[in-house]
Amino acid sequence: MQIGIESLSFYIPHLFIDLKAIAEKKNAPAKVFYRGIGQEKMAVAPPDEDIISMGANAAWQACQTVDTAKIDTLFFATESGVDQSKAAGVYVHRLLQLSPNCRTVELKQACYSGTAALQMATGWIRQHPDSKVLIVMSDIARYGLSSAGEPTQGAGSVAMVISAEAKILYLEPFFGLYCEDVMDFWRPNYLDYALVDGKYSISVYIKALQSCWNQYKQQSGYSFSDFARFCYHLPFSKMAEKAHHELAKLENLALPVAELDKKIEKGLLYNRIIGNIYTASLYMGLISMLENSDEELSDKRLAFFSYGSGCVAEFFSGMVMKNFQSNLPIARHRDLLKNRIELNYQQYAEYYNFSLPVDGSTLSLDRISRGKFRLKGIRNHMRLYE
Ligand code: CAA
Repeated sequence: MQIGIESLSFYIPHLFIDLKAIAEKKNAPAKVFYRGIGQEKMAVAPPDEDIISMGANAAWQACQTVDTAKIDTLFFATESGVDQSKAAGVYVHRLLQLSPNCRTVELKQACYSGTAALQMATGWIRQHPDSKVLIVMSDIARYGLSSAGEPTQGAGSVAMVISAEAKILYLEPFFGLYCEDVMDFWRPNYLDYALVDGKYSISVYIKALQSCWNQYKQQSGYSFSDFARFCYHLPFSKMAEKAHHELAKLENLALPVAELDKKIEKGLLYNRIIGNIYTASLYMGLISMLENSDEELSDKRLAFFSYGSGCVAEFFSGMVMKNFQSNLPIARHRDLLKNRIELNYQQYAEYYNFSLPVDGSTLSLDRISRGKFRLKGIRNHMRLYE
């Protein structure tokens, strides 16, 4: 029995802004972002896309090759939830017409909760090897307009089916965990964008990585050289470089930077042009790594570092399956990345400032999204999807 990822897919809105437009607004050169934080573009969600429609679009694709009658658990991981009570996953459950015998819940701990879902799913499958678990991670990352966090926004979803028939990656049992009550990044209920202490958040990320790594290493007996590649949570792609170099330093490894970067660089390609998608960021990095490396990764060990501000973090690992690329919808993903429309700053700011009515009035939304599922409007405080 190899418990792990049977299918894996992402969805992003077809709109994006190039960070040079944000740099221009700040009278700064584009390289402040291109080189400074390693980001080029960020995905922008139009009014008729939200975490639910994006999540349903990713999940629909991930379910194409799976016996969905066996899905008895749906975890929806997000930190941009749209309801304090009802789980976003319940809408996805209906849109995908899953079995009514399905436990469906929403999970939250900043960008970490998708990893919590993954670990809980593997535990469930170990007890119920015929079951399958659908995990949807979906977020719209928002910081204040003109704030330092503005260039690290993004929007998108990753969905995966976990089962005892892993076709992409199976998980190893070792872990390193870290939890500390810190205020590096948070979003009070009354705000629709995050507050962040940027520099502090970077230092807590590194501290959590060091602590997780020490526990993981002790448990597994593995060392740095046992991993073919490393996937890090990616608030911006330069964060992975910082983290990876710190880890090498911790191990007293004086490796050339180019050699270190080779172990992470393929995993950064998609996030660099999509932006931070919070819960799904680490797993978008995994997809980028798998789709842009060749079959040489088969049977190789990957390291993962998941970080959710606030904070909870985890270091874990998995083994890549043979023929993993034939089980990924690579052509569909490339289409999503290729066929996008660029927004100028004003168009982006208009979408940023859009909000649904909060007084119960009815609003029908024009179709902008190209997704199979979209938010078509709101009536009596109820979101309507088609
Ligand atoms: N050419 C090349 N590089 C340049 C440059 C230029 N012209 N101008 C600046 N830079 C470099 C700087 O030297 C700096 O590099 P180092 O980090 O290696 O020193 C880098 O660009 C960033 O410059 P600043 O520190 O001045 O940037 P900033 O004040 O704009 O802040 C940020 C950057 C902290 C990431 C900010 O965008 C932010 O707060 N983002 C949101 C928080 C975040 O992403 N935190 C990450 C850890 S928390 C987490 O992971 C959870 C999550 O998802 C939020």
